[in-house]
Amino acid sequence: MPRARLTIDPDFTIAPVPRRLFGSFVEHMGRCVYTGIYEPGHPKADEDGLRRDVLDLVREVGPTVVRYPGGNFVSGYEWEDGVGPRDRRPRRLDRAWRSIETNEFGLGEFARWAQLAGTEPMMALNLGTRGVQEACDLLEYANHPSGTKYSDLRRAHGDADPFGIRLWCLGNEMDGPWQVGHKTAAEYGRLAAETARAMRLVDPTIELVACGSSSRSMPTFGEWERVVLEEAYDQVDFVSAHAYYEEREGLGPADFLASAVDMDAFIESVVATADAVRAKGKHTKRINISFDEWNVWYQSRFHETAISKNEGDWQVAPRVIEDEYSVTDAVVVGTLLNSLLRHGDRVTIGCQAQLVNVIGLLRSEPGGSAWKQSIAHPFEQVRRHATGEILAVQARSDRYETPKFGDVDLVDAAGTWDAETGTVSLFLVNRDLAEPATVEVGVRGFGDLRVQHAAVLAAADGQDRHTANDEQHPDRVGLRPLDAVTVEDGTAHVTLPPLSWAVVQLSTVRA
Ligand code: AHR
Repeated sequence: MPRARLTIDPDFTIAPVPRRLFGSFVEHMGRCVYTGIYEPGHPKADEDGLRRDVLDLVREVGPTVVRYPGGNFVSGYEWEDGVGPRDRRPRRLDRAWRSIETNEFGLGEFARWAQLAGTEPMMALNLGTRGVQEACDLLEYANHPSGTKYSDLRRAHGDADPFGIRLWCLGNEMDGPWQVGHKTAAEYGRLAAETARAMRLVDPTIELVACGSSSRSMPTFGEWERVVLEEAYDQVDFVSAHAYYEEREGLGPADFLASAVDMDAFIESVVATADAVRAKGKHTKRINISFDEWNVWYQSRFHETAISKNEGDWQVAPRVIEDEYSVTDAVVVGTLLNSLLRHGDRVTIGCQAQLVNVIGLLRSEPGGSAWKQSIAHPFEQVRRHATGEILAVQARSDRYETPKFGDVDLVDAAGTWDAETGTVSLFLVNRDLAEPATVEVGVRGFGDLRVQHAAVLAAADGQDRHTANDEQHPDRVGLRPLDAVTVEDGTAHVTLPPLSWAVVQLSTVRA
């Protein structure tokens, strides 16, 4: 049976948990917006066509920030098409996903939805086919109170109060040759700097994200970040990172389960590059990372589809990358959340991609029901229970061999300490496909602790690692109580089932 020994102490912390780490992403892609969050005529839709059943699940899962409206979509989007009277909004070709965009849903609808969902909106700008002026026009429409062309247009459209959007992404994946309006690092860095400078003149309270690399395997990775930040360091607050992982031919479960090793390395390389630019330019501020797209995505399956090959009919809201997530995928997502949390001193925004239907935390059917995918469970638990300070977890684990990443820990861990509530929260993964793992956690520094809550996600009896939820079985994969947790003489003992993700909460015994 694999073993791991963890040590934690309230005096050894990394940073306060950044609340924006637990965000998600809504793109005009496939059925994320249309028949995802918005479906007029659905029995559960409100008077604006927002699906109440989906909203209820979104509130439960609780993304703290939601990026919108793309993604690759944004690089050809004209935001003006999506505001004003619906019957006058044009239908347009969305070149990114070979779809028809009806523009029934736009900025005003998203702002209202975000308010109902209790989440912070994060807007992405089109720097593919557009530039400085259109970005400033959009910002004026969104955030300026009144008395100007675009603020008065918003008021004429029925939104008297500004939306007050603070977070803005300066384009999307501009390093990718697939991106409409793709640029070199020098071209993009200059455009990002000029757009940022002009936008801050409109609203100095905004926070700006420059595009980093769309994956660590991009040939320009590293050099892209260096050049962009040398151009735009003073003008931006964050550099983005995107990463998707999958199990596929030639990349088996051993490597897939070790995806967080790649994410750790990705984050550490971007931090090193940003800090080198900081040193060279004698800048004082630090640039943090907005990991604003991450997830499991079976991209190899998508590359076989007509849309990926730019073939077939142009449709409204086609089914695109509606990946159905298994027990294994949920465990991997748990390790990715751990990676983000371990780096929470520098990764201060995270957006799981995407929220509904399109590689979604949630799924919904047109005219039908909505449910949580397996991956929603670790996401929701970490969002709820990672509070206070991130702990510097000292971990020694048995290891296993992987073809791609070398030897990797069988047990992966992250944790937080909330001094206000006296609660330690541990997020634990057993990567062993066959054996349970025993985990000892040295907790002496916290005084007396008792088990407050422990739950696990693993294949139940009669299931295997491929089991997933679907419309007929929305709760097949979920959380179960984890009984195998004790605390004695300053050590907590946890037994994790094979291939599992768990949350364990220990709280101080108050007199
Ligand atoms: O999330 C799906 C797509 O993945 C996004 O549109 C793009 O930014 C990324 O390549």
